Amino acid sequence: MGLVVGRSVLRSDGAAKAAGTARYVADLARPGMLHARTIRSAIPCGEVTRIRLDFDRAGFTIVDARDIPGRNVISLVADDQPCLADGVVRHVAEPVLLLAHEDRERLIEAEVRIEYRPGTAVLDPAASGRAFKTVSIAKGDLAAGFRRADFVVEGEYRTGHQEHLYIEPNGMLAVPENGGVTIIGSMQCPYYVHRALTALLGLAPDKVRVAQAETGGAFGGKEDYPSMIAGHAALVALKSGRPVKLVYDRAEDLLATTKRHPSVVRHRTGVTRDGRITAMDIEVLLDGGAYCTLSPVVLSRGCLHATGPYRCDHVRVTGRVVMTNSPPNGAFRGFGAPQTLFAAEVHVERIAETLGLDPVRVRAVNALRPGDTTATGQVLGEDTAALDVLRAAARRSGFARKRRAYRGTHRGIGLALFFHGAGFTGNGELHLQSKASLELTPRGARVLVSSTEMGQGQRTVHAQIVAEALGVPYEAVEVAVADTAVVPDSGPTVASRTTMIVGGLLRDCAVEMRRRLGRLSPAAYLRRHGPLVVTRQYAPPPNQEWDEDSYRGSAYGSYGWACDVIEVERDPVTEEIRPIRVTAAHEVGRALNPLAVRGQIEGGTAQGLGYALLEEVVLRGGAMANAQFTNYVVPTTLDIPPLDVLILEKPYAHGPFGAKGVGEMPIDGVAPAVVNAIRSLGVDLREIPATPERVMGAPEIGGLGRATDGSSAPGRSGRGQGTRGQGRGTGRRGWNPGASDAGAPKTRARSR
Ligand code: MOS
Repeated sequence: MGLVVGRSVLRSDGAAKAAGTARYVADLARPGMLHARTIRSAIPCGEVTRIRLDFDRAGFTIVDARDIPGRNVISLVADDQPCLADGVVRHVAEPVLLLAHEDRERLIEAEVRIEYRPGTAVLDPAASGRAFKTVSIAKGDLAAGFRRADFVVEGEYRTGHQEHLYIEPNGMLAVPENGGVTIIGSMQCPYYVHRALTALLGLAPDKVRVAQAETGGAFGGKEDYPSMIAGHAALVALKSGRPVKLVYDRAEDLLATTKRHPSVVRHRTGVTRDGRITAMDIEVLLDGGAYCTLSPVVLSRGCLHATGPYRCDHVRVTGRVVMTNSPPNGAFRGFGAPQTLFAAEVHVERIAETLGLDPVRVRAVNALRPGDTTATGQVLGEDTAALDVLRAAARRSGFARKRRAYRGTHRGIGLALFFHGAGFTGNGELHLQSKASLELTPRGARVLVSSTEMGQGQRTVHAQIVAEALGVPYEAVEVAVADTAVVPDSGPTVASRTTMIVGGLLRDCAVEMRRRLGRLSPAAYLRRHGPLVVTRQYAPPPNQEWDEDSYRGSAYGSYGWACDVIEVERDPVTEEIRPIRVTAAHEVGRALNPLAVRGQIEGGTAQGLGYALLEEVVLRGGAMANAQFTNYVVPTTLDIPPLDVLILEKPYAHGPFGAKGVGEMPIDGVAPAVVNAIRSLGVDLREIPATPERVMGAPEIGGLGRATDGSSAPGRSGRGQGTRGQGRGTGRRGWNPGASDAGAPKTRARSR
């Protein structure tokens, strides 16, 4: 343990948040400020034929696409998404018009009617004719791999949308000043907003300033959409010449902003009798929604995690993310990996069931080890810890003992083994060219990075890294507000990169600053030599090479490894599934702040339990029909069972003090562990959320001896009658229509 690193110092943002003195964008005001409101499309697809403003326009500022001085796009990946629809709409809740007024009441009462010529909406991704991106990963010789198999196991797995439900809805304040605009608001990525606004407004970079306000959670949901809201606020501010505040209420945030991509993932896997995987053929389909947003990158990460943490010489992964007329999906903690790891881990469970093997053993036989290669040919380092986390979680939870003890009861136990690559995918970090700066202060130093605090502990952990490397107390390190006028572009606060990548740059800055200080104290150095700012720019570690065209090479600098064991209880009457215990073993390289790491694991696990069991976005006609807390149900603290968290450390050579990323991984394995626990009750479930309706409708797993309590509770009769649960979609597209998807024996019949 270091002096500062490795200790659970108090979070520097904690006291103000707990005391209610932290100021969020909704708390901010400026003299003469207008409130703004977004008028949105009510249909999923069509042309706007007429807009009627049925109110007295005195005091109103009204903005439409014609008021955009630059390019009408939210610039990010494909530049296809308009800031304001210009005659055509592609999803419900697409922004069409902006209204602003000093008086919020008058603003809310203003009636706008939009008339449309509706088009034909595509809402089923399987029916979409347009892909935003396809990915193809190939390793070895798939046919040869299948020739070595004794059995082929096939299956299709589905996940739904998920809403981020950060505590604070989105909001922005725009202030016209210095011949341009200053934005203050809730966000993850000030420089993303900055880049989007220079394109939208046609302003020089120095005329746009973007600063983060205190931000009440994000989870990926404030990675891209804040650029849209900042654009809207800025357009009104520039047209009216007044400060403008645009804050969403919860319903608007739910209806309009991005969600996790729904997925359909198919696996076809060759296995030997003793459980070794010989070939993996995987097909990933994501619903991108109406515009591209970050979908290509989400698909990429999803495909790169689609094999699960398993070794296999012969692999094919093909992925597509397609356009539909639902609101665009975007970044959400895990970024494609929760979807594909759900499929991978439920599928591995089914392999174990099919072969009659122990689920821990099947995972142990196939788990990636140091020196193994991934599907892209990346050679894994000594910090590869799949076996370590598997053994730790199985031992700590008493998995084998409980599995036997729960047989024939209403309790189930399941596990999932998973991994998560930290940092941008492939050459992403190289292209970002992130910078971090450290400024010497009389007491110590001030951190200058564009990384944002959203509750995860960025300010705290960055200060710890600098304090440790500079050799000053934690309290002697300040962290500047993420304001583009003050800090360099350290890249976005996403992809579990803030500790590992930006923290690594800060460590290098601090080491250099310490060298320059020599034996002088900071105050003495400043007196003698004047101000000192040290800046470092990212350079990839040696041997980290990636070829984007062939999808070969090192997809990520490092991977974290984790295993969740989850115990559930089924209500015999209502079929509700209640989690009763979670054992989570996570390998994080080095826990710089163990309490913060535990917080990430607990929070991600809770969010994963919601994803697995409760959270269902109901889309009707392309609109979220349950955009309320009362019917989009998320777990509360009362729904969270005891969480037994084990933190393992296998230091990553290029992370600061050995740290890897930890923000996203904890959500990756919860849903498959829950579903595998439900499967141990004899329910053949392959889809989340595992609502009572789905559990009730799922068929029985043949031969597993589904628990019977002798009762004939209503609903039980529906079980085992058909194949609706798993048969849905089988043969709809693709391989082997008509083949049983329950472990078709390849060479000889094996009855189960
Ligand atoms: Mo994230 S989902 O990489 O903000």
